[in-house]
Amino acid sequence: MVILGIETSCDETALCILEVKGHGENFEYKIRGNIVHSQIELHKEYGGIYPALAKREHIKNLPILFEQIKKEAGITEKEIEAIAVTEGPGLEPALWTGIAFAEELKKLHGIPLFPINHMEGHIVSTLLSDSKPHLEFRKLKPFALPALAVLLSGGHTEIVDIQALGAYKVIGRTRDDAVGEAFDKVARMLGFSYPGGPQISVLAEQTRNENLPKTITLPRPMIHSKDLNFSFAGLKTAVLYLLQNTPVITDEIKKEISREFEDAVTEVIISKTKEALEAAEYGTLVIGGGVIANKHIREAFEKLASHFTIPLYLPVSGLSGDNALMIALAGALTATNPASKTKGPSGIKARGNLSLES
Ligand code: KG4
Ligand code: ZN
Repeated sequence: MVILGIETSCDETALCILEVKGHGENFEYKIRGNIVHSQIELHKEYGGIYPALAKREHIKNLPILFEQIKKEAGITEKEIEAIAVTEGPGLEPALWTGIAFAEELKKLHGIPLFPINHMEGHIVSTLLSDSKPHLEFRKLKPFALPALAVLLSGGHTEIVDIQALGAYKVIGRTRDDAVGEAFDKVARMLGFSYPGGPQISVLAEQTRNENLPKTITLPRPMIHSKDLNFSFAGLKTAVLYLLQNTPVITDEIKKEISREFEDAVTEVIISKTKEALEAAEYGTLVIGGGVIANKHIREAFEKLASHFTIPLYLPVSGLSGDNALMIALAGALTATNPASKTKGPSGIKARGNLSLES
């Protein structure tokens, strides 16, 4: 089956053509084309994603990228046998553009269209060992269930119990800001352009390498709460007060704040994941979402997983951020599942607040 994946939930216009065969343990995939077009340069001046601009850009980009990906994959439009599109969560004006594009193709070619939860995409993306097109079929990484997923993105921070693909229970979530959002807000306070998460991690690493003594202490919010929930708003406010009480904000202070902020976030996330791993038996630990591009957090998870001797799946390069390969894969797993009765519902709606449990 050749499946087209479409992702437009935020500021990336992404398309993927994935060829798959078999199901269950015999499932194999071949990436025929994978394009991620980021609009980030256009949104920078707004200090965040501007939904109306994202919508306009997706509408402009989709037909151009569609021509490009057919060429990259070496297929004609008629060879596409199914479509998978992100229905949520995300920015509704942006989501609608991908859905409208998908509905149009579905009507034109009479092929099934599967609505995909973006966060499920981040989960299954960790099962892939590549993000670039390749010539032969490959297998997914073995997925021992039940699995625990930790999703860390700009809009979400969730700990998810996975009994089976599609059977998700969110057992921990943020009460306020998502972790990526906290990174970006603190980065903004330090004068870095959007999205500043990567910039903080660069400074934090420099500071660690220079072995500078710690002179700043930030809180570890909810680290001792008896649940798996998070709160990052207080941490962001603590940085704000610290900056307000600092007469001259030097580059050295920015570096120290970056390291201490990254340490605080990492300790809280690792502590909650540890609690979840102690509370139940899991066969796999998967980490998804844009924030897992962060080297320090990745290394902390590697240490934790080796302590529990549990297989750890992190997205490979090119798959931690938003992409359509993860959407195509989630669609393909649904489409090829013999137990799946759906050929795709009619009339997909954008669902900005879609949960993994719905
Ligand atoms: O999953 P994603 O690409 O988009 C959403 O669905 O939200 O995540 C984007 C988030 C942004 O907040 C960005 O600052 C953060 O991931 N991010 C990072 C790093 N790279 C991306 N945060 C910390 N360290 C990084 N290296
Ligand atoms: Zn995402």
